[in-house]
Amino acid sequence: MLVSIPVRRVLRLGHPVLRSPARNLSAREIAAPEVQRLVAELAATMAAYEGVGLAAPQVGEGISLFVMGLPEGSPRHPEGIELTVVFNPRLRPLGADREQDWEGCLSLPGLRGQVERWRRVELRGQDRKGKAFKRVYEGFPARVIQHESDHLLGKVYLDRMTDLASLSYVGG
Ligand code: NI
Repeated sequence: MLVSIPVRRVLRLGHPVLRSPARNLSAREIAAPEVQRLVAELAATMAAYEGVGLAAPQVGEGISLFVMGLPEGSPRHPEGIELTVVFNPRLRPLGADREQDWEGCLSLPGLRGQVERWRRVELRGQDRKGKAFKRVYEGFPARVIQHESDHLLGKVYLDRMTDLASLSYVGG
């Protein structure tokens, strides 16, 4: 049976859940049908909004979960990013290299700004099934992970900008 997955409304800056730290989930909670449904809804919502990542607080759910993914051939990162589900992420920078690049956010539509991030990070977390994993990312996917993990701390990319002078409207 084909069941359509609802696309959720993405909350914009000003909603308090975007400024609240998210709660970690146990493996048992991750397995719950309502949480598995939320994973599917996050992925569907990210695709519908053409985002590269989406964190649960952005749809009003204060739990430590984000998804990321990008189809191959996207101008932003031609290699694409496979659909990745992360619960309870913990990040550790690898090396001292930092990189400056543009970021946007579905919760701040139409804006973008230059943000400095770690170039390489180790990500630990639990996957969709609650299984622990550890993986190293660099470049654009590492940036996405840092951006999405920040959402789970109640932070947005504006908080990470060292100079607001680059803040711009897309196409403006
Ligand atoms: Ni965002």
